[in-house]
Amino acid sequence: MSAIQHVDICCGLSWGDEGKGKIVSQLSKSGDYDFVCRWSGGNNAGHTVYVNNKQYSTHLIPSGIFYGVKSVIGPGCVIHLKSFMQEIRYLQENGFDTSLVRVSPRAHVVLEQHIQEDIQTYAKRLGTTGNGIGPCYRDKYLRNGKRVMDFIEDFKDYIWDDHLYGKVLCEGAQGFWLDIDYGNYPYVTSSSTLPYGACSLGFSPKKIRYIYGATKIYDTRVGYDPDFPDDLLNDPILTKLGEIGKEFGTTTGRRRTVNYLNLDKLIQAINMSGTTHLIISKVDIVEEVGIFKYYFQNILHSCESLDCMKSCLVDLLRTHTCIEDVVFSSKPTEI
Ligand code: IMP
Ligand code: MG
Repeated sequence: MSAIQHVDICCGLSWGDEGKGKIVSQLSKSGDYDFVCRWSGGNNAGHTVYVNNKQYSTHLIPSGIFYGVKSVIGPGCVIHLKSFMQEIRYLQENGFDTSLVRVSPRAHVVLEQHIQEDIQTYAKRLGTTGNGIGPCYRDKYLRNGKRVMDFIEDFKDYIWDDHLYGKVLCEGAQGFWLDIDYGNYPYVTSSSTLPYGACSLGFSPKKIRYIYGATKIYDTRVGYDPDFPDDLLNDPILTKLGEIGKEFGTTTGRRRTVNYLNLDKLIQAINMSGTTHLIISKVDIVEEVGIFKYYFQNILHSCESLDCMKSCLVDLLRTHTCIEDVVFSSKPTEI
């Protein structure tokens, strides 16, 4: 049995929608990985990636599939069979090799009643995506759930043998501040979005090499959260950032609430996740709007230019974290 050489992880440092799909697809394209794996969540996630200048959106299957890399949905994920099969068909129709998709037999299955309960009860109360994620995880922890192995016939072409080897890339879903333990509970998702969650795929934390942390140069939040009050929606500059930045959910189409970058939260997320490489996306959007602001130590700071903002951020990040590398990304298609 061959061994795992190393594991790299891409995780969100904010509230999801930080450009993880772009980072993972670019890393997968390098041909450096034997596997790309999802470790948590289900089709509540939404990844937008560009392959040969064409835009694709997926919700569950890891972005490695676009570059012919084995794509694993791990034991900590939850899977709705119909949505999974729809995504398989979508990928096939677009010419991608779905024989590379593998699903852990231990992953839990989202049932129709989970979705109904989520829509009727939690979508309004908590602003969930209504995909049955919370009720499915509840049944998992009650030890009352159904797993992929209970529907083996339905998943038979995609069953994973639980065996990772070589070089592994893990694709996070959601973000640090949506984590079940560290987010603004109860306005959080139902799983661990931090890199340690990736170890549930079956490797030791000692195998982790790099952690690619993803954020945007401004913050966005979809779904209810008292930390993003409604008056932000009426702020003309934040509204402009949201419009130019096309800040609408990939999964639900909901308008995202926008705020200036909260550097205090970002620093905490970088340090707790162990981010080695930070990728800050959507720099082109603040450049177009021409407003360069961020919160640090709870005070809103304003810079005269984009260059000034970039150098202030890099200085503060170098002082308060141990990141090895910061990349500012201005394109939806690549880093
Ligand atoms: P759930 O994961 O559907 O239970 O939703 C819980 C919270 O996480 C809600 O506020 C959702 O809007 C948010 N959420 C879940 N997945 C994502 C995502 O991929 N991007 C952004 N927000 C998300
Ligand atoms: Mg997303």
